[in-house]
Amino acid sequence: MGNTLECESRRKPPVWLNALCNASYVEEEQEITTCYTTDEPSSSLKDEDEHVDTKQQAAMRDTTVQGTLTVAAAGVQMGCSLVLASTGGHVLLTTTLGALCAVRVLQVTYPIPTRCTLVAGSVGLGALGGDFLLQRMSAPAVHAGLTVAVLGAPIAMMCDKIVPLVKFKLAEALQAEKDTDDDSGVPQSPWHNLLMTSRVLVWASNDTLWWVGSYGTLIVGAAVSSTMPLATMNVLRALTTPGASVTNGLLFLTGTLVGSAALNALKGIVTSEAQTRFAVHLQKLAISNVLRQEMAWFDCQSTGAIFTQLGSVGSIRSLLSDLIPTVISTGVKLTTTIVILSQYDVKLAAICLISVPSDYFFSQWYSKFLKQYALEAQEITANNNNISLEMVQAAKTVHVFGAEDQQMGHYWDQVDELVKLRTRNNWILAGSSILSTAVPYGFSIVMFGYSGYLAQMGLLDITQLLTVAAYQSTLSSHFQSLIESYTSYGTLMGQCAKGFHFLNRLPRQKRGTHRPEQQLQGRIEFKNVQFGYQSSHDHVLEDFNLVIQPGECVALVGPSGGGKSTVINLLLGLYDPTRGTLTIDDHELCDYDPAWYYAHGVSAVNQNPVLFNSSVMDNIKMGLEEEDISEAQVEDAAKQANAHDFVMQMPDGYDTVVGKGGEFLSGGQRQRVAIARAVVRNPGILLLDEATSALDAESEHSVSEAIQRVMKGRTVVIVAHRLSTIQKADRILVISEGKIIEEGTHAQLLQTSGAYSTLVCSQLIADIPLEKPQ
Ligand SMILES: Nc1ncnc2c1ncn2[C@@H]1O[C@H](COP(=O)(O)OP(=O)(O)OP(=O)(O)O)[C@@H](O)[C@H]1O
Ligand SMILES: [Mg+2]
Repeated sequence: MGNTLECESRRKPPVWLNALCNASYVEEEQEITTCYTTDEPSSSLKDEDEHVDTKQQAAMRDTTVQGTLTVAAAGVQMGCSLVLASTGGHVLLTTTLGALCAVRVLQVTYPIPTRCTLVAGSVGLGALGGDFLLQRMSAPAVHAGLTVAVLGAPIAMMCDKIVPLVKFKLAEALQAEKDTDDDSGVPQSPWHNLLMTSRVLVWASNDTLWWVGSYGTLIVGAAVSSTMPLATMNVLRALTTPGASVTNGLLFLTGTLVGSAALNALKGIVTSEAQTRFAVHLQKLAISNVLRQEMAWFDCQSTGAIFTQLGSVGSIRSLLSDLIPTVISTGVKLTTTIVILSQYDVKLAAICLISVPSDYFFSQWYSKFLKQYALEAQEITANNNNISLEMVQAAKTVHVFGAEDQQMGHYWDQVDELVKLRTRNNWILAGSSILSTAVPYGFSIVMFGYSGYLAQMGLLDITQLLTVAAYQSTLSSHFQSLIESYTSYGTLMGQCAKGFHFLNRLPRQKRGTHRPEQQLQGRIEFKNVQFGYQSSHDHVLEDFNLVIQPGECVALVGPSGGGKSTVINLLLGLYDPTRGTLTIDDHELCDYDPAWYYAHGVSAVNQNPVLFNSSVMDNIKMGLEEEDISEAQVEDAAKQANAHDFVMQMPDGYDTVVGKGGEFLSGGQRQRVAIARAVVRNPGILLLDEATSALDAESEHSVSEAIQRVMKGRTVVIVAHRLSTIQKADRILVISEGKIIEEGTHAQLLQTSGAYSTLVCSQLIADIPLEKPQ
């Protein structure tokens, strides 16, 4: 599983897609350098780094814009080419557009300069001009020339005028996303939606072939099926014209029907495969991104919220599997319809062209409300999940305190709020559906009136009039479908906004790449360290200074909440100091490569070690590569940890499964497996946080024995409550309110009659008879 994930993450998408993604697929190192931290910059080196980052980001934005426009242009050209091909347009024009599209597609995958597309365009136009002269202004050549002019002008304009605007807007959206903190949610704007859509394409690029197959069959199928009314009218015309042959018409109609059915079936198969692959990929991406977040993020997230967001990630796939296909097929059908209508009368086609943007602007205005609703509903659902999860988990406590009614009250409040929200949304939806029907039908009436006028003037015969009527009726449903797609797009983006943020979030902890050649010596230095947890805003450690020499064993004692575990957390690199430095062997901890640091640098055992529902062997080897560790090394570690004997007595020895959270083992056994897991990596620094305090006397004895054995030859920081452990430390530090208030050996500290001796006497440690040193 781990390997698969790694492979997945290392399979890179094309260059431009990579840039679009910016946050998700950029190589690990790049991610680390581009991520931002809450630290104030402390050196000019940091400033330089940030300068480089900004440059990289600017370059990425440029590539992002270029990529988006390239794809848009390729889409337009491909669509036109296919429409022309399917409607019997000019062969040379069709080929030219096809060639342009091919160059665009190549440009997407390889860094071909825009010049190439211009050259390809000029060649195409040259060919067209030659053809035009040869044909002496034949109708198809004129038609082709006009189409090129009509299509060429907006594309050229787009490149010259719109590119800077799009660049600026996308850059703004990227920046707004970066400036957003986790609580306030993701900024919502059409540009940000475009950015997110681009990212979905990045994630889908893993299965490019399947999606190309899916959309290819969709486009061709839509073009073929939209010629159906024309084919039907051809048959009708042949039937009503005396002496005309119906065979060709029938063949065209049959071909259209069979082709459309076959393409539909093929599309179904290819699309469902693409969807499944994409869904699996999203799941992997979401889980792996959760696991790489920093601890401070987990502190601020409830489990319910994480699971709700994981769930919302799934809905992202409907963008690719429902929305984009609907828009594409509607777009193709609409274009085909307009091309066919323009053959009869240009004004008819013009009315269609006007009605499209009118509907678009109307729906854009409307989708604002729906997006807002989606975000609010998601928030309330997350709260609901949280409350119900908490109630179930703490059912016993709720029962014992008789707090059922109170808890249910909280829950109902949230449900009521959700109901109110849904009612409001239903009204908005109802209004939307009335208007979205009225607007396109209004345009249909205008069109029908105009075509009736043309028939009266003798410019359309009866079959042409029927063809126009048939296309008119489909036109309104195409409009409808476009409007619905846009409103659904707004809703979907609202629903997925948190999911996107979730998938894209970069861990805000800077980590380096330092990998020492040899094992750590284990020198630790805290220099003026200040630290507070993000969720509480108070400083737990203030001006904390401490030097621990290699091989030294230091015990941390002190009142509850004094900051002992916080020191361990900082040494584990779970959090970074907000000020000051923490160095290990004279390198800042954040400069170490985390993979190396956890595999060879540091290991920890705490009060309630978490074991996974797999074998003892897998639990001990956890996080290490198979080739890095042999079974003999695992057994050796288990022997040091006093675990080997009891493991061998279990039915399957090291292959025995330990159950969920290690439930098949006793507390002491769990602890010893955890110690084996810590020492098998041969760490330079061993951290023990109250590793024996939850055990009974007998288990404690064997665990303590194991601890004494594994402490040899490495730096050890131990948080302990038992005198038996503390006494053996080289140095004892008393930590209270985030400060070291006393330090020395057991004997020295008892003589001072300070906080330590009070702690000892007040039975911090009652299980050992106290002997005052002479
Ligand atoms: N994840 C966290 N988020 C917010 N505050 C925290 C977090 N962990 C600890 N704290 C707070 O930091 C302070 C120091 O806690 P810490 O766990 O370091 O104390 P401790 O000395 O290990 O106590 P104990 O002996 O009870 O284990 C306490 O006020 C605690 O409430
Ligand atoms: Mg603690």
